[in-house]
Amino acid sequence: MELKELKGDNGEGVDSWKEVTLIYSAALRQMETKMGILNDEFQHVHQYNPIEHIKARIKTPESIVKKLKRNGYESTIDNMVKYINDIAGIRIICSFTSDIYRIADMIAEQRDIKVIAVKDYITFPKASGYKSYHMIVTVPVYLSDRTVDTTVEIQIRTVAMDFWASLEHKIHYKFEGDAPEHIKNELVECAKLVSDLDARMLSLNDEILAISKK
Ligand code: GTP
Ligand code: MG
Repeated sequence: MELKELKGDNGEGVDSWKEVTLIYSAALRQMETKMGILNDEFQHVHQYNPIEHIKARIKTPESIVKKLKRNGYESTIDNMVKYINDIAGIRIICSFTSDIYRIADMIAEQRDIKVIAVKDYITFPKASGYKSYHMIVTVPVYLSDRTVDTTVEIQIRTVAMDFWASLEHKIHYKFEGDAPEHIKNELVECAKLVSDLDARMLSLNDEILAISKK
């Protein structure tokens, strides 16, 4: 069954809301466990952890309602399940750009995960300078009487990209999306520095790996 089929628009909203959050947090927990296992296995095989850390969050009801409104939908449980892909969000922070694709491939290869959409803002950064690899997936949540395929947004980025995105987000919020031109330009410049740093750190790491293999 899919979450979309949940009822919730006729007086039973609160129960449905609780049920929906329960399912989304279960989906997040599943993803976190899966990532932990992949990281452990990778450590075992390659003696190194591709994942630096993981952040998971459930979107607040306030921002769900705001996003529905912004997109012209009524605030119903049905609509939120149908139209909001980032109710459950997980951010995977890794050291090197090459780890990003490695992690994305490992996720896509899991038999019970279905990849719904991918946005590669690493190869094609946003005009803001934003870089990150986004996946929308579904993961099955096993309840006592049914299985619910639940949507999760995954963002994969390096530590440096995460540093940039946090500051940019803060600035965006502060100026309500309308930051002064010189600040926007400076952010684009910083994004270039971040890309350069990521590339140099990666090649440095590759060089060290090559030496230790000999
Ligand atoms: P949202 O409606 O914001 O969720 O965007 P979307 O549905 O068009 O999807 P997109 O893949 O563009 O963005 C999803 C999420 O990526 C956002 O909610 C942010 O967390 C992050 N993101 C996207 N663009 C930027 C950006 O320019 N700066 C920062 N800091 N984060 C971004
Ligand atoms: Mg979002």
